[in-house]
Amino acid sequence: MAAKSTILIALAAIVLAVLGGAAEAQLSPTFYSKSCPNLATIVRQGMNAAIQREKRLGASILRLFFHDCFVNGCDGSLLLDGSSGEKFAGPNANSARGFEVIDAIKTQVEASCKATVSCADILALAAREGVNLWLAYTYVLLQLGGPAWSVPLGRKDSRTSFQSLANTNLPGPASSLATLIQMFGRQGLSARDMTALSGAHTIGRSQCRFFRNHIYNENNINATFAALRQQTCPRSGGDSNLAPFDVQTADGFDNAYYQNLVQQRGLLHSDQELFNGGSQDSLVRTYSTNPGQFNADFVTAMINMGNLLPAAGTATEVRLNCRKPN
Ligand code: HEM
Ligand SMILES: *[C@@H]1O[C@H](CO)[C@@H](O)[C@H](O)[C@H]1NC(C)=O
Repeated sequence: MAAKSTILIALAAIVLAVLGGAAEAQLSPTFYSKSCPNLATIVRQGMNAAIQREKRLGASILRLFFHDCFVNGCDGSLLLDGSSGEKFAGPNANSARGFEVIDAIKTQVEASCKATVSCADILALAAREGVNLWLAYTYVLLQLGGPAWSVPLGRKDSRTSFQSLANTNLPGPASSLATLIQMFGRQGLSARDMTALSGAHTIGRSQCRFFRNHIYNENNINATFAALRQQTCPRSGGDSNLAPFDVQTADGFDNAYYQNLVQQRGLLHSDQELFNGGSQDSLVRTYSTNPGQFNADFVTAMINMGNLLPAAGTATEVRLNCRKPN
């Protein structure tokens, strides 16, 4: 009798697990292991080639993944061309870059595994390579990179792009801490996820127009750092002049972003909001002294963000060309 009910309970648990799982993301790192066994290698080679050409492209691709996932889930909708699409939303216009890197990888993937791998999954894998980048020089392999992780796969691509949703869902550089926590919260991501994911600003560049107000008009900034940034970001003009987020290791993925925040050397207003007397101060301090904790939390948060799915009823497919629906 006791044994029988144990079996029943076990069966019920399995049924519940299967039903529960079906409603959620069914992503798995082994999704393409039979249908496209060389996928990870192809993506890695494509990203390595891009990063050899221009180191910043690792950062640019990582940002594309964030901007894709926050707009109707990670569905490749950002990659669709067209003036009414996401590429021309405020946060992306004259800013989102690196699309041709994804095109080149997609061409290679299609040559190996026809009509099998979604653009959304290629972007998810490419973003990981952007973080875990290695630069091959003639005699040495130099690791500038952060953590590597298994990327859950099995996403589909949306057939449409969502410009107005991009304008609503993507945080701007003038955001307050409360706004940042709220915007990530609406995606089901915690304040801790938000603070860890912001560590992506350990690589890449920002245009002057996004940090001008912070370096000229705000007080919570290191004066030496503000003066340095003002040298190439004038009060007027030079809107698209670039500055690295992280001066010390501009292209290396590390925890220097948090060390900078503790010294009031955040580049964007929104960066410094994470360390400005509020709820994230202690976590920023932890990450600034404990790179292992930052890496672990960053990976967890990237997987959480990567699990964001399109709204029910969205028409999806495996796109053949990342720029247009089939
Ligand atoms: C927390 C809210 C965030 C805000 C307000 C924000 C804002 C920005 C802005 C204004 C830029 C400069 C863009 C340009 O100059 O064209 C930028 C760049 C960048 N962002 Fe964020 N971001 C946020 C979160 C994130 C997240 C979660 C990630 C990825 C996980 C990310 C990754 C990047 C990267 C890597 C760059 C450099 C891109 C490049 O050099 O091409 N950001 N971000
Ligand atoms: C400002 O930045 C400099 C490095 O440029 C650093 O030595 C100094 O400690 C910082 N000041 C404060 C108050 O954190």
